[in-house]
Amino acid sequence: MSDLVEKKIIIAIDGYSSCGKSTVAREIARKLNYLFIDSGAMYRAVTLSFIRSGLVLDGEVDRPALKEQLRRIHISFQTNQETRHNDIFLNGENVEQEIRQLAVAQKVSQVAAIAEVRQFLVAQQQEMGQSKGIVMDGRDIGTVVFPGAELKIFMTAEAPIRAQRRFEEMKAKKEPVNFEEILQNITDRDRVDETRTESPLRKAADAVVLDNSHMTREEQFIWILDKVKKIVTDED
Ligand code: CDP
Repeated sequence: MSDLVEKKIIIAIDGYSSCGKSTVAREIARKLNYLFIDSGAMYRAVTLSFIRSGLVLDGEVDRPALKEQLRRIHISFQTNQETRHNDIFLNGENVEQEIRQLAVAQKVSQVAAIAEVRQFLVAQQQEMGQSKGIVMDGRDIGTVVFPGAELKIFMTAEAPIRAQRRFEEMKAKKEPVNFEEILQNITDRDRVDETRTESPLRKAADAVVLDNSHMTREEQFIWILDKVKKIVTDED
């Protein structure tokens, strides 16, 4: 394992909504002592900021005001000493919980389709990966953010299974949720993410597919770690 710790690579994990990318990415990063970045959290934080300022109204986004607002948004991550998670901060405020709410999930794909928002966040994400040793998950990590990543994984799972997992996750957090609403949100976001003009969700040509519909967390973890080991050993 010391080889893995010493030889830093970039691991890009892309895929559909709620298929457990962040969970497995976080575990892999912990194992390898890498930085973990949930790029979706960054899109969610920007969305939250826009919602709070009334810039995202039903179906419409105030584009000029939004560009102005981007200049005032500062996003950072900090390890939560209690949970050991990398919590996200919006202008110094911990918004880790708030960005996970359905109200944000319902607007985020619309906001993530805006070119200026993507440019703003992609530049920050690339900066974070400069010294490698990073696991980042999202929709365009292997295609746009780190096209040269040594390991690219495209994760997927059947939609009802993803909805059930998200439903349980939110229920555990005592969020008022409804299964049908979550399933609808997941399929809506998949559609918007796949069909947008700006960096649509798609598998990079050199990505490996991981369908985890019928896999446990442990199995996914081992599957990815095995790929990392192969890359590190091949290159040695
Ligand atoms: O956790 P979940 O899979 O539900 O989504 P997320 O990773 O938190 O991402 C929320 C939304 O942000 C996605 O539905 C995309 O619209 C957008 N996103 C993106 O466009 N590009 C990324 N690299 C990451 C997220």
